Amino acid sequence: MSVTPGGDLTGKDAVFVPTGELPMENPETVTGYDFDEGVDYDKLFDTMSRMGFQATTFGNGIKEIRRMIERKLRPSEEDIKKAADLNSGCDTNCRIFLGYTSNMGSCGVREVIRFLCKHKMVDCIVATAGGIEEDFIKCLAPTYIGRFDYSGRDLRKRGMNRIGNLIVPNDNYCKFEDWINPILDAMVDEQEKNGTKWTPSKMIDRLGKEINDESSIYYWCWKNKIPVYSPALTDGSIGDMIYFHSYTKPGLILDIVEDIRGVNNCAKFALNTGMILLGGGVIKHHICNANLMRNGADYSVFVNTGQEFDGSDTGAKPDEAISWGKVSKHSSKLMKISGDSTLIFPLLVSQTFAKYKDEFIKYNEEQEARGEQEWWKIIK
Ligand SMILES: NC(=O)c1ccc[n+]([C@@H]2O[C@H](COP(=O)([O-])OP(=O)(O)OC[C@H]3O[C@@H](n4cnc5c(N)ncnc54)[C@H](O)[C@@H]3O)[C@@H](O)[C@H]2O)c1
Repeated sequence: MSVTPGGDLTGKDAVFVPTGELPMENPETVTGYDFDEGVDYDKLFDTMSRMGFQATTFGNGIKEIRRMIERKLRPSEEDIKKAADLNSGCDTNCRIFLGYTSNMGSCGVREVIRFLCKHKMVDCIVATAGGIEEDFIKCLAPTYIGRFDYSGRDLRKRGMNRIGNLIVPNDNYCKFEDWINPILDAMVDEQEKNGTKWTPSKMIDRLGKEINDESSIYYWCWKNKIPVYSPALTDGSIGDMIYFHSYTKPGLILDIVEDIRGVNNCAKFALNTGMILLGGGVIKHHICNANLMRNGADYSVFVNTGQEFDGSDTGAKPDEAISWGKVSKHSSKLMKISGDSTLIFPLLVSQTFAKYKDEFIKYNEEQEARGEQEWWKIIK
């Protein structure tokens, strides 16, 4: 037996600690997908939570979104009793909040979001200005796939703008201006003649109606009465348009106070809430803060590339939000998926909302036929 210079421990004792208990309650074995079973995407995604690293957080994200959906579509006996006792007037058992950064409107995630709005699968949206205008601009002219390494100087000469590896011609913004100016004129008139109090959410609703195009996210939000909040609506091309327009027809007022009541009450008076946050910054905090009004969201999935070492809100994990009361202390702490939403979100939707499409259609038809908000009276 060898004796270590530092004492009477053996080398084996120093290096090898006997195996004790695993720290988790229900241990799962690490396993990946076996392609000898063929290419079955549902099975592949089912193995994700057992693969490790971000595949595990992705797999857990799928489960968390399914939990929000189930809570909405299939409320328990206890939920139904609670809703009836409270007589809350809520139109659903679980309000699902969706937040996304502007670039989600620029890229093809737009079409995934539109699907959710078309089938009224989400109940409240928060987006930044670019995420609003890019949707409308795409109804007027296309955005192109380019490259991350195109020269900025060369693009400037060509009158082209770059968003990552996407290219938006300047002309698109001219078309946007031509489209939005008469609407801004009408908004000022309505404010002055009818006393309309415009807010960012009312403006987005109006634009969704005016665009009258089924390829638009906000057309469906208008049609399905999904409120869209954008407290910094002027920080984008839409703000440029409002600025220019304020010289030709001054006077437009957008009230953000009415909207903060709207978004906060959407969470405060909900029976249960879920949050799906693609990216960080304003959209993440605005939805989390609204959920603070109810002592935290019941379900949450964060998808972003932010890290927590800089103390940013974007990088903060759900556990930090629990400390503020923005995420319920009863919800899981593991629902941050680190990565690019363009890769993650379409796959998440394919395994969650898309699987419940028929149920959502039925649920919404029933709700429309009922014509009132007391959903618990007809659910057996
Ligand atoms: N297309 C555009 O991006 C665009 C266009 C016009 C105006 N703007 C304005 O720029 C300002 C800042 O934009 P913002 O607040 O929407 O967000 P942002 O672009 O500043 O992103 C905030 C954070 O979200 C995370 N994130 C962003 N993209 C992600 C992705 N693909 N996957 C995962 N995580 C991601 C990152 O951690 C990032 O730091 C806003 O006021 C917006 O209106 C943006």
